Order: sequence, then C-alpha cells, then structure tokens
Amino acid sequence: MMITTFYLPTKIIFGPGSSARLGTEAAKLGCKAILVTGRSSLRKTGILGRVVRDLENNGVGILIYDRVEPNPRASTVDEGARLVREGGIDLVIGIGGGSAMDAAKGIVIAGSGTRPIWHYIENKVEIKGSVPRLILVPTVAASGSEANNGAVITNWQTHEKCVFSSSHTYPRVSIVDPDLTLTLPVKPTMQGGVDIFCHLVEPYITAKNPAPLTDAIVEATLRLVVNYLPRTLAKPDDIYARSQLSWASTIACSPFTSLGGGDGAMTLHGIEHPLSGYYDIAHGDGLAALLPAWIRYTYPVRKDRFEALGSNVFGRPDGIAATEEWLEMIGMRLRLGELGIESGRIREMAACALKTAPWLKNHPNKLDIKTTARIYRDCY
Ligand code: NZQ
Ligand code: ZN
Repeated sequence: MMITTFYLPTKIIFGPGSSARLGTEAAKLGCKAILVTGRSSLRKTGILGRVVRDLENNGVGILIYDRVEPNPRASTVDEGARLVREGGIDLVIGIGGGSAMDAAKGIVIAGSGTRPIWHYIENKVEIKGSVPRLILVPTVAASGSEANNGAVITNWQTHEKCVFSSSHTYPRVSIVDPDLTLTLPVKPTMQGGVDIFCHLVEPYITAKNPAPLTDAIVEATLRLVVNYLPRTLAKPDDIYARSQLSWASTIACSPFTSLGGGDGAMTLHGIEHPLSGYYDIAHGDGLAALLPAWIRYTYPVRKDRFEALGSNVFGRPDGIAATEEWLEMIGMRLRLGELGIESGRIREMAACALKTAPWLKNHPNKLDIKTTARIYRDCY
C-alpha cells in the first residue's frame, strides 16, 4: 500500500457569522494588510464595509486591492505584488471567490520576490526569505482554494491558465462563513456546484488504487452537492443548504479527499483550463459542458466506478444518466458552441491542455492532442 502524507497547516473556522472573527484573527498575524478582492460584489453586498470596520477596530491597517477579475490575470497579480513591496504589507487577506483567493496566493509569492508571478509559475521557483501571512475568506462555494495551497493564474498573452502551488501559499487561517454566499446569484452558485462536483468525481473515477475510506469521504461529499445544490436553486436564501455546499467546497479540493490512501487525477480540469484561458468563460460552465464527453470517453475503462457513482451517490446504478439528468435539473447542460468557443481553435487548445496540465498522462485511457480534441468536439 502507498504511503500517504496528510498536510494542511491551516486553521479553518467554519459557520454562519464566523467572518466577524476576521479582525481578531488578522490582528494576531499582522499589522498592515492588503485586502485582495473582486471588482464589485464585495462593495455592492456591503461585506467590504463590514470587514474594513472590523479590521480597523482591531488595529490592522488596510490597503484595499479590489481589481481581481474572474480567471485572474498574471498582470493583476503583479500589480498587487507591487503594492505589497511598496506598502510594508505583512498580511494578505483574500476575500471573495476562487479568483480573489488565488490572486491573493499569487500576490504572497510575487510580493515577496523581485520577478513577475509568471516567472515563479513557469520555473516552479520557491521564494526564499520572509513572506506575508495569508488569510482566506471564501464568498463562493466552488474552488475550495481556502483549504489548499494551489492557485490558478492566467497569462492573457499566451492564454495559458496554469496551476501553481508553494509551501508559502497555505492560508494560516481560513474563515468559511456560509452567510457570505447568500448574496451569490443562482448562475455562479450553479457554476460553483459543478466545480465542487468535478473536484470530487474526477479523482474518484480515474483512481488507479481506490480505497474504502477515500471513497466514503468522496461519496458523502458528492451527495451533499447532488442534494443541496438543487435545494439552493429552489430557495437561494436557505442557509442550511448553503452551509452544506460550503462544507463540500472546503473539503472537495483539499487533502481531506486523499485520506485513506485513494488516488486519482483531475484530468477534466486540465482539459477545461484552456477554455477559460482562451475565452474567459466561467470555469464551472467549461466543466459542465465538457463533463458528459469526458464521461463517455472514460466509461469503457471505468465501468465499475461509474456504477459505484450511480449506486452510492445517486441511489441508482446508471451513474452516467444520473449525472446528465442532474446537470439538466440544475440548468447546467451546456455546449461549447453556445459558450462562444471557436471550433477552429480546438486543436490549439488541446495542445495547450497537454502543455499546461502534465497530469493528463494519469488518465486511465490515453489523453493526447487527438483524443483531447475529440472530447472538445464531442461537446461542441
Ligand atoms: O468579481 P466580483 O465582483 O467579486 O464578483 C464575483 C464574480 O463575478 C461574484 N461574487 C463572488 N462572491 C460573491 C459574488 N457575487 C455576489 N455575492 C457574493 N458573495 O461571483 C463571480 C465569480 O467569482 P469567481 O471568484 O471567479 O468564482 P469561483 O469561486 O468559481 O472561482 C473561479 C476561479 O477559481 C479557480 C478557477 O480556475 C477560476 O479562476 N479555481 C481555483 C482552484 C484552487 N485554487 O484550488 C481550484 C478550482 O478548480 C478552480 O480552478
Ligand atoms: Zn475547479
């Protein structure tokens, strides 16, 4: 049996109203913070005002950096990093969806170095010396960035959307307050739910060495998404349903899903990233469009896993039909054509996927430019 290492040096504070603890937690970690967030939602929802007052009341100085776009650009990270270097910042607080939290991770790295973030991503260079501490506060149940050290940054010149991680990008503290997700409209809520579903189903299906404890954790978390996302669609202010989605989000893309020794790879993610890298579509939309074709391509070599998915998650043996009907029910049965993807760039994106996602080689049947392009075409 493989040796598994479980490592997550993050204090996770979870629960409705827990964001009121941000000021006290921040005051323990730093004196001057940069607040990294998206361009409008935090201000519009009033969350920003509340957070700023709380930090000031706890004696933490603040610089607001509300410039992060969805699918965060390397250039946006570099601008934030410049503010860290010039502003004597010792604490980075990422508050928002996965885009803001990932940009905050990039700003920790580039803000401590002298080079643009892409240099560290491309050359996998670790930062030496001291780096600012990191606190993350998700306002979307989706990426799970709050419980891992990974970040996805886009180079808008090359359209490469790359995942990077560092020992410095584990948050010291993550505050997961489902109340903050109540203002999220239905569409990004559904996109986030599909993202969580894929974080779980991809390693579950592709696992070469499935393990009982890992399967139990993943199946239980999948049932949370499958049952509570439609409930949230029906009643968006249902805080109990939102809380189950927040738990699923925090677990799904974290080391918790490798407990028990199970393995597996996020190969659908590797195929999706060029879509949002080239066309700036929502990550969850790209995944939803690709999922049926990825399933059909993988089924011949993973029949048993799809039956287990059906029986243990949907309560019926045909996991494929159950997944497609679930996507239909939440309004996420999508096609690449309707998302604005140009068929003429499919081969180019397939090559980009192979370059930016080397873990595609861990897929149970061959993923090369030809088969990856076929998956894109199958859901065009
Ligand atoms: O940008 P603002 O103005 O903040 O508005 C956002 C954005 O338009 C809005 N929003 C966020 N919280 C809100 C809200 N609107 C109302 N009320 C709130 N409480 O929602 C929109 C989507 O936000 P975004 O951060 O882009 O969405 P998500 O959380 O789905 O993150 C997507 C990003 O995460 C990356 C994706 O690649 C993508 O760049 N991922 C990061 C991962 C990781 N670090 O582990 C793993 C994931 O697989 C994913 O790839
Ligand atoms: Zn994802």
